[in-house]
Amino acid sequence: GTQLIIDTDPGVDDAFAITLAALGTDVDLLGVTTVFGNVPLAATTRNAQRVLALCGRADVPVAAGAERPLVYPHPHRARYAHGVDGLSGRAEALPEPARELAQVDAVNLLVTLLEAAQEPVTIAPIGPLTNIAALLAAHPGVRSKIDRLVIMGGGLSLGNVTPAAEFNIWSDPEAARRVLVEDEVPAVLVPMDLTVRCAVDADWLGTLRASGPIGAALDALTPDYRDYYRKALGWDGTVLHDAVAVAEAISPGILETERLPIEVDCTPGPSRGATVVDRRRIEVAERAETSSVVDVAVDTDLDGLRG
Ligand code: BDR
Ligand code: CA
Repeated sequence: GTQLIIDTDPGVDDAFAITLAALGTDVDLLGVTTVFGNVPLAATTRNAQRVLALCGRADVPVAAGAERPLVYPHPHRARYAHGVDGLSGRAEALPEPARELAQVDAVNLLVTLLEAAQEPVTIAPIGPLTNIAALLAAHPGVRSKIDRLVIMGGGLSLGNVTPAAEFNIWSDPEAARRVLVEDEVPAVLVPMDLTVRCAVDADWLGTLRASGPIGAALDALTPDYRDYYRKALGWDGTVLHDAVAVAEAISPGILETERLPIEVDCTPGPSRGATVVDRRRIEVAERAETSSVVDVAVDTDLDGLRG
């Protein structure tokens, strides 16, 4: 099975993504690292611990990472979508953490797990990319232990936090640019254009709820989150962005990808945090010399994925 580490800012959809990996049969979840994002770091960390406790995975180490972006902190939090505690006000309904937080920070846990791994490891960053940028900058040698990054982030033709930008990239564009544009580490980007199409409906959630206490606890996180997205962005169904990326991390190839040049807007203007992907059909030689390419997930078999 896939050797996997999740870097996360739970977050309702992060909770689904962590559960998918924690209970999956064809995946070894080696660790979970946390980052600021949907809510401040202390809350995302505790939420990650609680979700693992819900899944009965006290064996999975959790380490806390960045509290703020690499360069510019910003005031916005995604509490409108995810509630003040990051889990729709229901964090305390989940079990208490079953294991103490690691004594080391996220970057150091990542290094330790990567160095100890017998096979290359997949990392699924499903929050701001701050920890991953810090890891690659401080420990260049670990690249050989990384199979690939499967990143939830970006929007090719839409934004959620601003008209132009998706939340994870916008939260730390400088970090995202380092990882996606400046670094050679293999990466798959799972943008909102695809995750929105993978939304689940009431029937799917009903089946989840009926599957047992874990499914019921996850379903209970979704009503406010779904209502927020419907009112704010007009989206139907429940969009589990991060779970789509983790599904690809666990089952490589479940998403169809295209290799495309990418840039991340780090300017302070209205497009800050936008992912600019070049889908023009021109020869690579004609493109800007600086362009870097990334595998962008563009399609999937929706029924296969939801199953
Ligand atoms: C991303 O932002 C967060 O709010 C979600 O958890 C997801 O990672 C979607 O834009
Ligand atoms: Ca997230």
